[in-house]
Amino acid sequence: MMKGNLTLDPDDWEEFRRLAHRMVDDMLDHLATLRDQPVWTPMPPAVRTALDEPLPIEGEGAERVYQSFTENVLPYPNGNLHPRFFGWVQGNGTPLGMMADMLAAGITPHMAGFNQAPALVEERVIRWLVELMGFPESADGVLTGGGTMANTQGLAVARNMRAGFDIREAGLSDSGRRLTVYASTETHGWLGKAVELLGLGRRSLRQVRCGADLRVDVSELRRMLDLDREAGLEPFCVVGNAGTVNTGATDDLRALATVCRDASLWFHVDGAFGALARWSERLRPIVDGIEQADSVAFDLHKWMYQPFTVACLLVRAHDAQLRTFAASASYLASAERGVVAGGLPFADRGLELTRPFRALKVWMSLKAHGVAAIARVIEQNVDQAAMLARLVDGHPELELVAPVPLNIVCFRFAPPAAEPGALNRLNQELLLQLQESGIAVPSSTILDDRFALRCAFVNHRTRTEDVEALVDAVLRIGRTIWSEMAELRV
Ligand SMILES: Cc1ncc(COP(=O)(O)O)c(C=O)c1O
Repeated sequence: MMKGNLTLDPDDWEEFRRLAHRMVDDMLDHLATLRDQPVWTPMPPAVRTALDEPLPIEGEGAERVYQSFTENVLPYPNGNLHPRFFGWVQGNGTPLGMMADMLAAGITPHMAGFNQAPALVEERVIRWLVELMGFPESADGVLTGGGTMANTQGLAVARNMRAGFDIREAGLSDSGRRLTVYASTETHGWLGKAVELLGLGRRSLRQVRCGADLRVDVSELRRMLDLDREAGLEPFCVVGNAGTVNTGATDDLRALATVCRDASLWFHVDGAFGALARWSERLRPIVDGIEQADSVAFDLHKWMYQPFTVACLLVRAHDAQLRTFAASASYLASAERGVVAGGLPFADRGLELTRPFRALKVWMSLKAHGVAAIARVIEQNVDQAAMLARLVDGHPELELVAPVPLNIVCFRFAPPAAEPGALNRLNQELLLQLQESGIAVPSSTILDDRFALRCAFVNHRTRTEDVEALVDAVLRIGRTIWSEMAELRV
């Protein structure tokens, strides 16, 4: 290469094209054969060592690094794409989503805004999501990197809109005010991080107890609001759950909307996965009232099956996001014409300035599959959860640990004679052995001091036979561990 003409583009485009085609073929083979692979494979020590490399000052070339990827990275993922991965609430991607991400990276548009085709695609996606969530046309929205980011930015909007003073200018520290936010004890941990980050402090998070159905106790919420006001606190926001992370419980969102209306509080809904139940006519009643929220956050990389990462924050009041985040700078000024005509609307509605073209995979997937097909797969996941719950309920050695209102099943192997302490130890070991077996990957949670295997159904690849295979493996491994534990006791 001549001095002064350096670039990172390939020297030989034909050679790179062949490698790129191989990459695509290999990934498609990988996706097409997922079912034949173990869900999870422990990494051999030699592979760990191979990845512990010094900083490469001189490059080895694309061909060789791709070989390292196929040997040392591709065979050892987390497993979340696999049809029998049920852990946490993890996305599993689609081949079309993967290719859309490649196209998005290929053109790498700067998604602060700019009024060209990529911005119109993102704005169209937001309009569709507004419609799907039952929000008014005037609502605004922004795509984010995940539920934590969407929720946290939603809380920032709530704080700024309800503080009653110019919090952007004055900050919280001098105000002497104790702004408080209310959410059930089952709310995901993003909220703890968010109150810390937004300067509200942990003490501002007022946790409201749940009923036996693990939905927030609305009368307790009203009581706490009254007492807190008397004590000089200033409630500004209630966070409702559409699908809690532990059990998939959905709060009474209509009732929460009424509480918030009566008390002039901001109503935010964390619908990380549950909000998407609204896309199905059959499931919509479960999240009834979500459309009344002031803001709602949901992931598209969970129950819309998109590759990581993409989520969305919608805010009902048209300019509330701008009033929270818009900032001006001479070097970012808009113009009537030219590249920056239309300004930087996405940067102004959220925290990120440079943003990736997350919208492309959502746009392509919605157009290619249609909402109806996605909604049917969501329904299929709910049916699979119900099937697992039935199998567990009908088996003398298995026990449900929580109700199953949506797509999450918490259960345990519970041989009739076992004591509570032994059951926890037994199921902890069972979980690890099950994961290590490569047959299925649930995660776990603890409910009422009971350790539970936790299965979230958010995978479009899961089939009925996978649910049966999971139950068989739990029984087989559980019985072996239990008999070994019994031997230890005698
Ligand atoms: C209910 C709920 N809220 C928030 C989150 C956080 O979302 P993310 O992991 O996309 O940041 C999750 C993640 O599982 C969740 O289940």
